[in-house]
Amino acid sequence: MNLAEIIYWIGSGIVILVLLEALISMLKPIVEFRRTKQLMNLSAKKLQRELELVPVSSATPGSNRAWRGYRRFILEEKVAETDDICSFLIRPVDGEALPSYEPGQHLGFQFRIPGQTKLTTRNYSLSCAPGDPQRYKITVKRIPSPPDQPSAPPGQGSSYLHDSISIGDLLEVSSPAGRFVLDRQDPRPAVFVAGGIGITPLLSMLETICTENINRKCFFIHAVRNRDEHVFRDHIEQLITNRSNLDLHVFYSHQEEGQDFTTTDPAYHEGFLDVERLVQITGGGDLQYYICGPPPMMSAIVPALEESGVSSDSILMEAFGPASTRKNPSVDSTAATETPTNIEKWTLHFNRSNQTILWNGSNSILELAEKSGIHIDSSCRSGNCGTCEVPLLEGKIEYDEEPEVDISQGHCLTCVARPTSNIVLNV
Ligand SMILES: Cc1cc2nc3c(=O)[nH]c(=O)nc-3n(C[C@H](O)[C@H](O)[C@H](O)COP(=O)(O)OP(=O)(O)OC[C@H]3O[C@@H](n4cnc5c(N)ncnc54)[C@H](O)[C@@H]3O)c2cc1C
Ligand code: FES
Repeated sequence: MNLAEIIYWIGSGIVILVLLEALISMLKPIVEFRRTKQLMNLSAKKLQRELELVPVSSATPGSNRAWRGYRRFILEEKVAETDDICSFLIRPVDGEALPSYEPGQHLGFQFRIPGQTKLTTRNYSLSCAPGDPQRYKITVKRIPSPPDQPSAPPGQGSSYLHDSISIGDLLEVSSPAGRFVLDRQDPRPAVFVAGGIGITPLLSMLETICTENINRKCFFIHAVRNRDEHVFRDHIEQLITNRSNLDLHVFYSHQEEGQDFTTTDPAYHEGFLDVERLVQITGGGDLQYYICGPPPMMSAIVPALEESGVSSDSILMEAFGPASTRKNPSVDSTAATETPTNIEKWTLHFNRSNQTILWNGSNSILELAEKSGIHIDSSCRSGNCGTCEVPLLEGKIEYDEEPEVDISQGHCLTCVARPTSNIVLNV
C-alpha cells in the first residue's frame, strides 16, 4: 500500500467516525424520548393495576363536584416544612386547567397501600390560597403510633405519603369539597383558631385575605406544642407584616426549657389556649370563628365558646386528626326513641352487594354496612368530608344536622344520614 492509499484509508476512517458520531447524537434524543414514554406507560400501567382505578370522569348531572370519582395527579414537588410535616404539590396528569376552590376546602385521596387489602381513603385540606390553575397544594403531618400504644402501626395514609410517595409518583384525587370555607362577604372580624396541623385550611383563608386585600380585622391564633412543631411560622409572620388588620397569636403548650422562646413578644404565649385567653385577645363581641384542630382542642374550645354566649351560627369548625378517622357515636340515637316502630321496619338494601339489613336506629348506615362486610369509603365519619357519599336509588333519608359538605343530588352521606323509608343504595 503506498502513502496515498494509506492517507485515503485514514481519511475515510475519520469521515466515517465523524458521521457515526453525528448519527448517534441525532438518534439520542429519539431513544431517550421513547425510553421516557415507555417508563411513563409502565408507571401508568403499574398504577392502573395497583389502584384498580375507578374510571376518571368529569362532573355528572346533579353533582356539585368539579369532577366525579378520582382524577390522576403527579407529585411535582415535596417540601419538608418541619421534621414531620411535609407539603405536596400535585399537577393533574391530563394537563387540563384545575378548577378553583374555596379557601378551606379539602381534597380526597385514595391509596392502595402495599400489604392492605382495601383501598385507603383520606382527606387533606388545600393549604394555600386558590389561584394556581396548574397545581394544588396539601400539607400533611406524619401521624405516629399513639404514645400509650407504641406497638400499634403508625398512621397509614400519612406515613404512605411521607415515606412511599416520591416526585413523579401518581396519586388519585377527588375534587375540592367541604363547606368549611371563608365567607369573603362577611364584614365581621374573623377569628381563626388552629390547633397543630389544623392550620392548613385556615392558612388558605389567611392567604386569601392577604392576596385579595380583604381589609377585615382578623385574629390568627395558632396553638402548637413547641417551636419545633410550629409549622409555617416564618411564612405567617411575613404574611402579617405591615398589615394592621391582621393580629397573630401563638400558644406553645410544651415549650422545653432552653428552646428559643421570647416570652416578651406579646404575640407568643405559653400554655394551652382556652376561651378566657381567646376573649382577652379578641375582646369578644360579634365575631365569626373559624376553628380547626385535633378533637381534644375542638372539644375544649367549641362548647366553652357556646356557653360563653357565642351563637353556634358564628362558629364554623372542622375537626381532623387521628380520632376523626375512628368511629364516632351515631347521631341517630334520638330517632330510636322518637319512632321506634318505624325504625324497626326500615330496610337498607345494598344493591351491588345484594344484601339487605334492618335499620336499628342506633348505628349509622355506614357502620351497619361495615358490620355486614360491605365496604364504603369513609374518612371523617361526621358529615364533614363527603367521602362516604353513595347513590341513593330508592327511598328517603334525613339528616339531623345539615352536613358540612355539599351532597350531590340523589346521593346519601352514609355516616350521618337517617332513613325515613326503606332505602336502596347503589353499593
Ligand atoms: C376534612 C379533613 C381535612 C383534613 N386535612 C388534613 C390536612 O390538611 N393535613 C393533615 O395532616 N391531616 C388532615 N386531615 C386528617 C387526615 O385525613 C388523616 O386523618 C390523618 O392524616 C391521619 O391519617 P393516617 O392514615 O395517617 O392515620 P390512621 O391510619 O387513620 O391512624 C390514626 C391513628 O390511629 C393509630 N392506629 C392505627 N391502627 C391502630 C391500632 N390497630 N390500634 C391502635 N391505634 C392504631 C395510628 O397509630 C394513628 O395514631 C384531614 C381530615 C379531614 C376529615
Ligand atoms: S365519612 Fe366524611 S362525610 Fe361521611
